[in-house]
Amino acid sequence: MRFSVSASALRPLVSACLTLAVALAVALALALSAPLAAPIISPSPALAEHKTKAPDKRGILLAAFGTSVPEAVQAIEALKSQAEAAFPGVPVRLAYSSRIIRDKIARQGIVRPSPAQALADMAAEGFTQVAVQSLQSIPGREYDDIKATAEAFQAMPKGIKKISVGRPLLHSFEDIAKAAEVVLKSLPAHTKGEAVLLMGHGTGHPANAAYSALQLDLWRRDASVFVATVEGSPTLEEVLPMLKRQGIRTVFLVPLMSVAGDHAHNDMAGTEHDSWASRLKAAGIASQSVLVGLGSRPAVAGLWIDHLRDAVNELPAMDKAD
Ligand code: CO
Repeated sequence: MRFSVSASALRPLVSACLTLAVALAVALALALSAPLAAPIISPSPALAEHKTKAPDKRGILLAAFGTSVPEAVQAIEALKSQAEAAFPGVPVRLAYSSRIIRDKIARQGIVRPSPAQALADMAAEGFTQVAVQSLQSIPGREYDDIKATAEAFQAMPKGIKKISVGRPLLHSFEDIAKAAEVVLKSLPAHTKGEAVLLMGHGTGHPANAAYSALQLDLWRRDASVFVATVEGSPTLEEVLPMLKRQGIRTVFLVPLMSVAGDHAHNDMAGTEHDSWASRLKAAGIASQSVLVGLGSRPAVAGLWIDHLRDAVNELPAMDKAD
């Protein structure tokens, strides 16, 4: 009686112990197999959303110095169209690096972002890869700034994963040789007693040497094509005696810049006493100004597009949507 009472009292306890042992064994087995079993446990939708990587989005940013001259704006727009045609389906944005120009055109109701603003906008819109193409002629200060801006954006958390920067027109010696060849073909025909004088911007930056390198390459092909700069070396004064020595009586003035902007219209072709046209006239040399920027010469514009293609090719393969 006493035993049977005890036995019946113990039965639930034994059963509880067995249940606990089984539960422990199952828990232990689950714990041990957890790393292998992990994929079986599907995450909640919220967690999945968190983990899914957004697909790559590729874009192009053209970084020009900028211009307030309406015809020159068309040259930049033409370069943009050429980039769009070369990379179908890739959005192409345009930035002006000159704050003075941005402020000036803003007063006319035209808003252009700086390269930094354009990259910030693209990051916010989910672009993960951007090829930035410098529309500069030489790798001077403007180009250095664009490169530094691109590097800063690439280092930013949740920023654009990869930003490549395309070389300006006159970068490597191969670029300079190619530019000499292509620019030469686009110049006005000139005969004896006539010359072409290209107006580069010029800078105190060491990259100013690119103008002399281009000059040497041009002379190998045509002794009557000259390069001078507004703000660097060589100057017009340095080139004048050479024109005289060659007996040049007429000079075609051509801007060696992506656009025929303010420098071309005023410093080159202007009627003021210190314009190149006026100074040549004072030296007994007639001139004819060709107000067409390099960007408006399709073959030359094509060189910038070639450099953009190199920058696009530097971008990694695109991740597809999960
Ligand atoms: Co200037």
